[in-house]
Amino acid sequence: MHILVTGGAGFIGSHTLIELYKAGHTAVVVDNLCNSNPLALQRVAEIIGVPAIPFHKVDIRDRAGLERVFAGHKFDACIHFAGLKAVGESVEKPWEYYENNIGGTLTLVDVMRRHGCKNIIFSSSATVYGDPDEIPITEQCPKGQCTNPYGWTKSMLEQVLMDTQKADPEWNVVLLRYFNPVGAHPSGRIGENPKGIPNNLMPYITQVAVGKRAELGVFGDDYPTPDGTGVRDYIHVVDLATAHVCALQAIVRRCGIGIYNIGTGHGYSVLDMVKAFVRVNGVEVPYSIKPRRVGDIATCYCNPAKAMAELGWEARHDIDDMVRDSWNWQRQNPEGY
Ligand code: NAD
Ligand code: UFG
Repeated sequence: MHILVTGGAGFIGSHTLIELYKAGHTAVVVDNLCNSNPLALQRVAEIIGVPAIPFHKVDIRDRAGLERVFAGHKFDACIHFAGLKAVGESVEKPWEYYENNIGGTLTLVDVMRRHGCKNIIFSSSATVYGDPDEIPITEQCPKGQCTNPYGWTKSMLEQVLMDTQKADPEWNVVLLRYFNPVGAHPSGRIGENPKGIPNNLMPYITQVAVGKRAELGVFGDDYPTPDGTGVRDYIHVVDLATAHVCALQAIVRRCGIGIYNIGTGHGYSVLDMVKAFVRVNGVEVPYSIKPRRVGDIATCYCNPAKAMAELGWEARHDIDDMVRDSWNWQRQNPEGY
């Protein structure tokens, strides 16, 4: 299939491009590079063994720019990663998050339908469950109250896309609710490249290990979890990438609306991750216990059985692979791209 990949220069998008090409698909990337570096696409091309990945530096809010891209291609589907994703920043700048994520997606969907491309795979998030009613979380679990504007953009966009499909059944909409992506391509050539101080656990750990930051703050050790620290469903980004390739099969089968949890089904605590990182990589990660971070929940992991049953997808990488590949990327690229 010929796929439009919005946000393809980013962390998850760049890894997904590799898996798409490996599976015989072709892709065109649209990205405004607001949170990414074109070097990522160059390295993806090297890994795949092609001269270049077709790329348009276009903002998805730019209708005319998108029209120009669609005029040159007949896309079978769009994998839509483009969006702002920093939880804390979204609390400071809610308008910017709603305008970019929701405004951008509305423009994208309109241009897609005008060009007869009515298949979309959307990057949603476990955050739509809020503080979940049940653990492990299944797709039947009701959506909850999001604790920040970023989360609301994901929840609202799920609704926008489902309503679009209901009104026009020619659409196929796959909502992939990612749990906590970590790791990097095993080559160490591409990986997560946060700007400034990392918000997320794994890039913080790798920056401490590489000496960029003095110590990790562990946000709370008094949660009702086995060791008191927060438990999450960490998933290797290469597994997450292959989920998108599998999701294309749902589109081929004309799924209408498909909603899938994309996680491993295993919960690991903050200290589990730190200990695995130290054990596998043989490096020190000094840490100290800090107060809980506002908005965090104790435990979040999924039941990924639906993705296995309907998409034939399952995670293949374990916690050791995750911490090894995260470190491999960071130590080869101490300053990122
Ligand atoms: P990322 O920031 O690395 O990638 C997003 C890409 O979108 C960037 O390259 C950025 O430049 C681009 N972009 C942003 N706004 C744009 C716009 N208006 N027009 C064009 N390009 C634009 O983030 P990621 O971790 O690869 O996440 C990809 C998607 O998955 C996002 O939608 C994110 O919200 C979602 N998601 C991420 C996580 C996570 O923990 N990484 C978890 C759940 C969901
Ligand atoms: N944590 C620390 N110290 C840090 C960073 C994180 O102790 O410096 C802890 C958190 O308290 C939490 C765990 O590590 O217990 C994971 O935190 P992350 O920030 O890495 O991830 P979250 O689960 O908070 O959120 C992430 C994304 C969201 C997404 C969610 C579910 O940031 O966008 O996963 O997919 F919605």
